[in-house]
Amino acid sequence: MAITAKSFTFLLISSLFLVSCFCTKKTQNTFPIENGLSWTFYDYRCPKAESIIRKQLKKVFKNDIGQAAGLLRLHFHDCFVQGCDGSVLLDGSASGPSEQDAIPNLTLRAKAFEIIDDLRERVHKECGRVVSCADIVAIAARDSVYLSGGPEYDVPLGRRDGLNFATQEATLANLPPPTDNASAILRALAAKNLDATDVVALSGGHTIGISHCASFTGSPLSTRSYHGGNLCRGSQGNLPHRELYEHRCARY
Ligand code: HEM
Repeated sequence: MAITAKSFTFLLISSLFLVSCFCTKKTQNTFPIENGLSWTFYDYRCPKAESIIRKQLKKVFKNDIGQAAGLLRLHFHDCFVQGCDGSVLLDGSASGPSEQDAIPNLTLRAKAFEIIDDLRERVHKECGRVVSCADIVAIAARDSVYLSGGPEYDVPLGRRDGLNFATQEATLANLPPPTDNASAILRALAAKNLDATDVVALSGGHTIGISHCASFTGSPLSTRSYHGGNLCRGSQGNLPHRELYEHRCARY
């Protein structure tokens, strides 16, 4: 069957369209993003950043999938206090109490900080110090969701690292406590421009991970815990961060 000039033109245009679809996977994401962020931020300066992080996290999670929860929560605690600026990573050893010392952050996993530090070293070894720690935390959180069975999503990049951490008061004011009821949580998240649908989606973060019993009972010696374990008594010696639990529980 002869191909007419008209149908040839149609085929050419369709294939060009298809090719452009495959070549611009990232730029296709059209929902609005914050000023300064981009889908292609490190495409020239560090094109392997995301693959280095994904590859290393696959290894980490093969050994202990529990670390995915620690990394996801770290991103949440970073972003809710003065934005996603990596300030939760600043330990305050030189300048006094930091965000890390505020009560909600005492239960962040120590291992999560180590994993981020290791990822930072790997990425910076490849590209120099062009990739921000805040972006590394955001990518690690996304990979944690995906590699633990959740959805895959693109992360716009270009976050700048903060030079200062928030005060303990600001940290407490921005991270809702576990005693908050639904209305209080809706109000707290509305202040961050997040609606009820966002609250439901974000609450899905709690489908992975564990909690100190003290976070929900107010008593470090209670045997109840979020996931039904016996965390504060340390009877589950194989828990990935048992020592942290015991240490932190003792401080509640
Ligand atoms: C909005 C209000 C929120 C409250 C009141 C809240 C509260 C808590 C509490 C009390 C714990 C247990 C901490 C412990 O004792 O170790 C926890 C754990 C956790 N939260 Fe949230 N959370 C909130 C939002 C979020 C969001 C938005 C995410 C992520 C999308 C998230 C992800 C996690 C994860 C993954 C854990 C388990 C951490 C681990 O296993 O180390 N949370 N949360």
